[in-house]
Amino acid sequence: MKILNFGSINIDKVYQVDHFVMPGETQSCQGFQVFPGGKGLNQSIALARAGAKVWHAGKAGRDGDWLVRLMKEAGVDTRFVAVSEQETGSAVIQVDPSGQNGILLHDGANGTMEEAFIHEVLAFFDKGDLLLLQNEINKVPEMIEAAWEKGMTIAFNPSPANEGIGKCDLSKVTWLLLNETEGEQLTGEKEPGEILSQLLFQYPRMNVVLTLGEDGGICYSEGRKFSFSAPKVKAIDTTGAGDTFTGYFLKGIAMGETAQAAAATAAKAAAIAVTREGASVSIPFYSEVQV
Ligand code: RIB
Repeated sequence: MKILNFGSINIDKVYQVDHFVMPGETQSCQGFQVFPGGKGLNQSIALARAGAKVWHAGKAGRDGDWLVRLMKEAGVDTRFVAVSEQETGSAVIQVDPSGQNGILLHDGANGTMEEAFIHEVLAFFDKGDLLLLQNEINKVPEMIEAAWEKGMTIAFNPSPANEGIGKCDLSKVTWLLLNETEGEQLTGEKEPGEILSQLLFQYPRMNVVLTLGEDGGICYSEGRKFSFSAPKVKAIDTTGAGDTFTGYFLKGIAMGETAQAAAATAAKAAAIAVTREGASVSIPFYSEVQV
């Protein structure tokens, strides 16, 4: 099974703040760093660090060469990353003392996928291969349709959840990986058990992983529902924790592990990631997760 991640590439501008900036407020920051990011890039790096062979498809501007080089160095196959005339996507990220973040996104090159490019990339993949998507590039609904027609397995992380998700045919998704906020936006429910029930009521064939931060998560796969815990750690930056989880989890599934085993490893990897600053730079290697 080949794994294709069609996803975003961002330059993350991270500001350490005392509290998230309020309307009309000007606040001096306690720190500033520039990191590689984007949910797509982060998840490709998580897959690669977990030990999977992954192809990343997407676009970056000329200012994003270093991000593509970084993915390559991490072991990601970047032959399907094209250069856009637009600038690379970017994120302004505030991180407060508890490690929580608030993110402002600019699509840039992530908003320039065209149908011809999608079909050119998908031509390299076959029935049974895995397509991973997030909601940070344009044409996600079209990618779901095209991959479904080819018989690919689709894993979708509907993040960030916005009105665009409504255009995606989720009945064609085999693995849905989401957090409580995204779950609430999709179902209107707040309570994790209710979110899961609603999703399964609407999409009975779907496998769902609902992550709950420090409380672990709940999963429904192949007729079984189970919960998993997260190791207790002191979080300093939660940015990219969900991406770490997604990459590690899908690597486990692609290797034929049970969802339970894959979730346990992924929760460990995400717990390590939150103890470090940045998104993709905080993703642990498999050897660190296995100790
Ligand atoms: O999930 C974390 C990511 O969200 C960051 O790297 C940022 O680029 C935003 O896309």
